[in-house]
Amino acid sequence: MNVSDTAAATFPRNRLPEWVKPKTPTPAALTFDPSVTGDVARGATIFKTAPCIACHAIRGVPTAAGIVGPNLTHVGSRTTIAGGIYPNDLEHLHKWIKNAPEMKPGSLMPLFGKAEKGDTPGLYTDQQIADLAAYLSSLK
Ligand code: HEC
Repeated sequence: MNVSDTAAATFPRNRLPEWVKPKTPTPAALTFDPSVTGDVARGATIFKTAPCIACHAIRGVPTAAGIVGPNLTHVGSRTTIAGGIYPNDLEHLHKWIKNAPEMKPGSLMPLFGKAEKGDTPGLYTDQQIADLAAYLSSLK
């Protein structure tokens, strides 16, 4: 075994083998507009007081100490989200925040997209969701 074989066992983000990349299709009704670009600082500001903090913790954000959802301190360095069913990129983060129950039926995370229909009223516009996704992606 040479050095690159052992290194491959850690699945570095830029050298992921095809078979570990999730290919779960996203629900057709869920839209993502890549021209709406998020702002990391705005996303951080939204997150601090958003309902997200009731379920998620981020180290260094004193208001965010929830334990119902996964800890998001290093979410930007992960290769997948939602228990490995989706790749971790801006599109999937956006759709996830927009409507997690659609993305993963049975998910405890409520929907947050303003125009989405579900058990809870949506809170955020596409721009605000893009800001949140940009912020989360920056957490390496
Ligand atoms: C009621 C609790 C709850 C709230 C509120 C909530 N989440 Fe979640 N969140 C969860 C749970 C539970 C999961 C794990 C879902 C799964 O994989 O089944 C999750 C998963 C995630 C993930 C994927 C992380 C990963 O490692 O898979 C992201 C990103 C996320 N939430 C962001 C947010 C954001 C942003 C908000 C606020 C706009 C928010 N969440 C609000 C419970 C919540």
